[in-house]
Amino acid sequence: MIAFDRSLKDMPLLEIDNLSVRFNTPDGVVQAVDGLSFALDAGQTLGIVGESGSGKSQTALAILGLLARNAKVGGSIRFENQELLRLPERKLSRLRGNRIAMVFQDPMTSLNPYLRVQAQIGEVLQRHRGLSQNAARAESLRLLDAVQIPDAAQRLRSYPHELSGGQRQRVMIAIALACQPALLLADEPTTALDVTVQAQILRLFKQLRQDLGVAIVLISHDFGVVAEVCERTLVMYAGRAAELGPTQTLLEQPAHPYSRALVGARPDLSAPVDRPLVTLPGQPPDLSALPPGCAFAPRCQWAEADTCTSAVPALRMLGTGRSAACARVEAVARA
Ligand SMILES: Nc1ncnc2c1ncn2[C@@H]1O[C@H](COP(=O)(O)OP(=O)(O)OP(=O)(O)O)[C@@H](O)[C@H]1O
Ligand SMILES: [Mg+2]
Repeated sequence: MIAFDRSLKDMPLLEIDNLSVRFNTPDGVVQAVDGLSFALDAGQTLGIVGESGSGKSQTALAILGLLARNAKVGGSIRFENQELLRLPERKLSRLRGNRIAMVFQDPMTSLNPYLRVQAQIGEVLQRHRGLSQNAARAESLRLLDAVQIPDAAQRLRSYPHELSGGQRQRVMIAIALACQPALLLADEPTTALDVTVQAQILRLFKQLRQDLGVAIVLISHDFGVVAEVCERTLVMYAGRAAELGPTQTLLEQPAHPYSRALVGARPDLSAPVDRPLVTLPGQPPDLSALPPGCAFAPRCQWAEADTCTSAVPALRMLGTGRSAACARVEAVARA
């Protein structure tokens, strides 16, 4: 019995196995996510980085069961030991907001412009946690304090347009935390904010993780953003995992040529987080007509005919908790 309990406790909070997301479009099938696998334990932080169109948001939306209608999803997404891809919509919608919460890029479009902050946080607390109006008010105040909004009592009476961009994002994070989720998915949560506010929000994520033990998946096209918060990082390219490992190792010794290019965009770790990305030569591939081998090969200086162009490279273990999907990884390491 004890062994059984322990094995349940040791189960990852989130376990994604061979996830694929395809979209049927008039121009063909778009393979947005392809054979993606990773796991996350309770209280852990994982960053997902990659260029625009690499499948980051579709991965998050697949976890939430919020993919567009033309999507076909395959593989497995287990969360708290339930298979989400087979969960009925009723149960999935209860899970969303309760156990898994999401923060998006643009807080203005997610907040209701006609409702005061108190009403928007309070609604979640009353509906999801069954709090009375008075208890919801006290808890809203506590949550605004937790996300470090000054003059919380006054801000509760504000409408979204009366808040700054950073304050609106803090309100969104407070709403996300209102249900005490086990997992927070944050998709480009700081992209619309200026540098100073961005740094404050990233610090807030770190603090929340420490104080509340909430697991965080933080999605960004900027390695610097992810490096501020996340213990581990998944680098995605063309819907696939290029590399997965401890963020620090990835920053110091990126193994995959694509990770190298992304990290090269931030050689100075003390540089401000808004440093622009170094643009890679070439274009990201057309996801409805991927080449037969490594999707990065056409842009890769280490690519070799046959080795890299005949089969999709598998994610290979390189060391503790570290893996990369590159057939030439040894040659890259020597360079
Ligand atoms: N409903 C849809 N129909 C067809 N293709 C779609 C649909 N939704 C997304 N895609 C495609 O899926 C691919 C992956 O999209 P995704 O939104 O995950 O990218 P991303 O990595 O989040 O990029 P960004 O950094 O720009 O947010 C893109 O090529 C996108 O055009
Ligand atoms: Mg996105």
